Amino acid sequence: MTAPTPQPFPETFLWGGATAANQIEGAHNADGKGVSIQDVLPKGLMGPRTAGPTPDNLKLEGIDFYHRYAEDIALFAEMGFKVFRFSIAWSRIFPNGDDELPNEAGLAFYDRVLDELEKHGIEPLVTISHYETPLALAEKYNGWTSRKMIGFYERYVRVLFDRYGHRVKYWLTFNEINALVHFPIIGGAILTPPEELSRQDLFQAVHHVLVASALATRIAHETRPDIQVGCMVLAIPVYPLTPDPADVLAVLDADHTNLLFGDVHVRGTYPGYALRHMRENGIELDITDEDREILKNTVDFVSFSYYMSICETAAPDRTTGEGNIIGGVKNPTLQDTEWGWQIDPVGLRVVLNQFWDRWQKPLFIVENGLGAKDELIEVDGRPTVNDDHRIAYLNDHLIQVGEALADGVDVLGYTPWGCIDLVSASTAQMSKRYGFIYVDRDDDGNGTLDRHPKKSFHWYADVIRSNGASLRRGDGRP
Ligand code: BG6
Repeated sequence: MTAPTPQPFPETFLWGGATAANQIEGAHNADGKGVSIQDVLPKGLMGPRTAGPTPDNLKLEGIDFYHRYAEDIALFAEMGFKVFRFSIAWSRIFPNGDDELPNEAGLAFYDRVLDELEKHGIEPLVTISHYETPLALAEKYNGWTSRKMIGFYERYVRVLFDRYGHRVKYWLTFNEINALVHFPIIGGAILTPPEELSRQDLFQAVHHVLVASALATRIAHETRPDIQVGCMVLAIPVYPLTPDPADVLAVLDADHTNLLFGDVHVRGTYPGYALRHMRENGIELDITDEDREILKNTVDFVSFSYYMSICETAAPDRTTGEGNIIGGVKNPTLQDTEWGWQIDPVGLRVVLNQFWDRWQKPLFIVENGLGAKDELIEVDGRPTVNDDHRIAYLNDHLIQVGEALADGVDVLGYTPWGCIDLVSASTAQMSKRYGFIYVDRDDDGNGTLDRHPKKSFHWYADVIRSNGASLRRGDGRP
């Protein structure tokens, strides 16, 4: 028998769950919605792009949250959610991205979602852009390589803050903003194949996104001083594969690539290591004085996704692992998920401490979870899933959040990913499930879309009700 965790969570801790529009909403062409880059990636971010939406793209129907949001939010409320993270589909509001006027029917949908959340006393946490840029912006401007994108994004966020600013306190500007460097099409709506994209164009795109993000923060604060804006980064602790100093330097390089985004968001200026990298690689950014002023609008908090850690080495014969967008080298001491992602609860404590020590900003864990196959069974005549593996994963990670809290890290909340089963971003499968709620749909798109609470649904409700006191010490204990 394992002992209960001794580490208390603060009373204000925001327990909840997270999703993204393109992975849940469906209704891909309803009520004036335009086409997004996700509609032409039927096999996920690793797969090929199609000319237009194709019937094999599971995201086109998603889990039909567009029509079932009230039922889903009621289930979240049953678990006791204090917060729900969702994203707004840019192409519902501006179908082509560069339209002059917003689409009222798209705006009205999110009014209804917010009404429902309010009814249940659930705080919204809104991602403004989650890998779902309008396709027209990719096709006409090659996405964020173009400075014009800052203006289109500004127009979009002004509409969002005007419409919802009085009822949404927590906003995230871009999902996993550092993913742009690794997957330009998803993070930046850049259609140039990565192998043909110059470092100059990539860094210029990074700069445009960073300016747009800071501009959103400025507009939010001008709209309402109580709005809290966070950046959202893909967090990945990098460990040296060996104690060789060359491996430690390889870690420093990898860290710099990822931490650059948080550094600019928190410090409001480019760090020295980034300037050196640009100088030594012939990258000359087009930065205006106005850009420099805008960047000074720093974030209120830092949010991040955490799924795994990786190793780095300077050795040329690298055995790379599968990964959440960022590859890295496999850690021989860790176990893999069914999709090859390495499970490392302690890494969550490491990253929480690293970010807190570095930035001294409140932190929000807005994604974490286990993507796994589930088997639907019947218990007492009701369909359900015995997902003990998911419970163990989440429990062990939350134990480490408790450890970080005890270390003095300021953690605002925890919204595990895919709190209801949804379509995977990397593989576009339904069978890679994260949810507390099973959704009846398979990889071929068959199923009733009925919702069934899993065992983890009741487990998580207990965790929330007890404010973490029901957690058990797990294998992830250091
Ligand atoms: C994050 C993304 O990278 O990982 C989500 O923000 C994504 O959109 C999540 O779904 C899990 O990845 P996957 O590929 O298992 O869906």
